[in-house]
Amino acid sequence: MTSVLPLAAKTHARVSVEELKAKLHRNIHAPRSVYLTDEVAELEKQSIFLTHWLCVARSEEVAAPGDYQTLKIAGEPIVVARTQNGTIAAYKNRCLHRGVEVADGSGNARRFSCPYHAWSYDIGGRLVATAAVDKETLDLKERCLPQLCVAEWRGWIFVNFDSDATPFETFIAPYEKTLWYYGAGECRLAFKKVFDLKCNWKFVAENLLDFYHARTIHAATFGSQYKLKDNALPFTPIGDGGMSFEFGSDMRKNAPNAFPRLSWLDQTNPDFQAGKGAIFPNINLFVNTDSVRSWTLWPGERPGETKAIFYFLLPKETFSVADFDSKLEGYRELVGRIADEDKPVLLSLQQAVASESYEPGPITHFEVGIKHLLSHYADVLTASRAGRP
Ligand code: FES
Ligand SMILES: [Fe+2]
Repeated sequence: MTSVLPLAAKTHARVSVEELKAKLHRNIHAPRSVYLTDEVAELEKQSIFLTHWLCVARSEEVAAPGDYQTLKIAGEPIVVARTQNGTIAAYKNRCLHRGVEVADGSGNARRFSCPYHAWSYDIGGRLVATAAVDKETLDLKERCLPQLCVAEWRGWIFVNFDSDATPFETFIAPYEKTLWYYGAGECRLAFKKVFDLKCNWKFVAENLLDFYHARTIHAATFGSQYKLKDNALPFTPIGDGGMSFEFGSDMRKNAPNAFPRLSWLDQTNPDFQAGKGAIFPNINLFVNTDSVRSWTLWPGERPGETKAIFYFLLPKETFSVADFDSKLEGYRELVGRIADEDKPVLLSLQQAVASESYEPGPITHFEVGIKHLLSHYADVLTASRAGRP
């Protein structure tokens, strides 16, 4: 992947990353520029989002041939689709004529017709017709929207823009070893919510790893379930920038859960109460005794915008328990309330870094996950060829 960052922008971004590393070294939260500037956002795009494996959908969301979803990854529009022969394809959503997006939203289609001049593509992204252009002028054979690498893991679809990326099996192996008990492959999607947030994507990633704030802004929802006091968190780093927290009854007491216990938890700690995991760069996972949840976080058009996609998963057999719909509605409503608790703080974090006088404060021991995430983030940006002048 080559960089499109001009020299001044590279220098600016590199200064921000050096400042971040210096602050983390002194156990201080990240400097304002990493949440604020176009230069850092562009460096992230080049060195993280266009080169790392990214989770873009559940396989069941594109279950039937012709099913598709569209998504923007750091401004790059893509399509994820089930082809007519049952494989999953992912490709850039940019017409080969002038670059207009050929697919919109999600649904089921045999073909996409570009809205501008009606070139059409099959569901795998192959160009199949060019309206009113004779075949002498344009040979259609082998013309295809640029394909992304695709992999599946435990019901999730991952893509990578970089054809030279680390093999998926290598990337996922440490997570498979440590996070297997999330059991997402044994689950189905119960509901999904999309949140447009007015803050940088890293603030959301950090917030989801921040056990310090549970007792304050989430006191009315789940905050009282944690009993952290001065304990060190049950933190395990995974792979490159990932992590796991596994809570027993000494540190977490669940409110009565609505659904039956996940059967595979019996193979792990019998005292298991809840787990929190993160897969670098932008996936956050949570499992308690009855359900599995995940967040994927996507940078918006500006550094202060994020699209956060929430998935709530349950084992197939749970869908047939008594009062399923009302119990699920209870969870849906709870997720909305928790998000509403976080939103004003996330906005305030972004407003803080917009102020030139903002100086970040110390990282506490409850924020070990944030430090781990940002340390790897800084290492990736430093190592990236895109970051070098
Ligand atoms: S831009 Fe798509 S057909 Fe012209
Ligand atoms: Fe929160």
